[in-house]
Amino acid sequence: MENNSRSSFTGKIGFVLAAAGSAVGLGNIWRFPYLAAKYGGGIFLLVYLILALTFGFALMTAEIALGRKTKLSAIGAFRSLNKKFSIVGYLASVVPMIILPYYCVIGGWVTKYLCAFVSGSASLAAGDSYFGNFISQPVEPVIWFVIYLAVTAIVVLLGVEKGVEKVSKIMMPILIVLSIVIAGYSLCMPGAMDGLVYYLKPDFSKFSVTTVLAAMGQLFYSMSLSMGIMITYGSYMKKEVSLESSVKQIELFDTGIAFIAGLMIIPAVFAFSGGTPEALGKGPGLMFETLPKVFETMAGGTYIGIAFFVLVLFAALTSSISLMETVVSIIVDKFKIRRSLSCVLVFLISVLLGVPSALGYGTWGSIKLLGMSFLDFFDFTSNSVLMPIVAFLTCIFIGYILKPKAIIEEVESSGKFKQKKLFEVVIKYVAPVCILLILISSILEALGYFKI
Ligand code: PFF
Repeated sequence: MENNSRSSFTGKIGFVLAAAGSAVGLGNIWRFPYLAAKYGGGIFLLVYLILALTFGFALMTAEIALGRKTKLSAIGAFRSLNKKFSIVGYLASVVPMIILPYYCVIGGWVTKYLCAFVSGSASLAAGDSYFGNFISQPVEPVIWFVIYLAVTAIVVLLGVEKGVEKVSKIMMPILIVLSIVIAGYSLCMPGAMDGLVYYLKPDFSKFSVTTVLAAMGQLFYSMSLSMGIMITYGSYMKKEVSLESSVKQIELFDTGIAFIAGLMIIPAVFAFSGGTPEALGKGPGLMFETLPKVFETMAGGTYIGIAFFVLVLFAALTSSISLMETVVSIIVDKFKIRRSLSCVLVFLISVLLGVPSALGYGTWGSIKLLGMSFLDFFDFTSNSVLMPIVAFLTCIFIGYILKPKAIIEEVESSGKFKQKKLFEVVIKYVAPVCILLILISSILEALGYFKI
């Protein structure tokens, strides 16, 4: 999307689908289930839902309204309203640059699994050590990462993302249906009911500040918040489209898909490994280790597996394309270079930044940053440090500098703002105080000062 030719989305459906295309991706299908499994199941789900209805709602409304009001993307939007706050726009722009490389590493894993299923290795992929062997190889994860990144870069370079989005819009409903079918199947396996209880029933003894931080980071990541994306999308939104109900629909889409992904994966973890803490705490590998086992026990599992990974690949591609598109246009705007050159530059920088993440579970596995592998470290810095900082500054800016009234007026220019009181209280008081407390405790914890 080019800033100067600021075209707009045709109507509400167009806007909601485009924003949902960016929001729904690996964050929902790969990241949400492993965090929910790791951070106590039901309690994580509950915290996430509360945050989505309060923080998520307020921040997404604020970002889209900011974009629609200024008709500019992040840096320009903040700068045009208050010069001192352009820093927020810059900080927000750093986030996609950190996420893009490691997002493409995971995209590479999805591509690898798809190829394994297509080439008839479905039952090998269901083996216990398949995933571990794969990510600890010295070359293979890098190759799949570069292939996935190159596909993303080619789409952005040729400017054919509209085509991918169109395909994805057809595929998204199919993905939802297929995920429900797989979830139904998972739930029928022996032992799966314990998993369902773990996922749905909050166990308050598992509550901790880390749970809230993880849920908050996931919320920002999943809804593409605090990284300037929604500001850009807002800048293309027509004045007459209802902002409040669009936000609600995007949230419903995004959270619904994450919820189903959890239903598909967590009960299966219980069915196959009895829900031990090690099995639940698997982290980034959870989806890749669990689902092939589910497919193996299903009739026609190879074909279902192929369909599943194709659909996930498309959901991931629409997200990585929008991530790369953002980074490319920030560089074009800043350095006034050609789009194609910017694209090549972003590709090369992403290769450099992504290789450590791709090798971080094997060849470079002994190198730890704050005790984390490269991928976890990049994930932590973007989701648990930078995004909360951007979200905090955005709340301060809107709550006390610009004043919530400006955003409320923008929302009301396209209809009634039913939850304006909630919006105001969250943006002014609840969000900044909570984010600050959580941020400080997480940084202290990461630095090893205390264990929450
Ligand atoms: N929200 C995407 C996901 O959940 O997979 C990740 C993402 C995509 C973040 C695009 C930012 C973005 F611009």
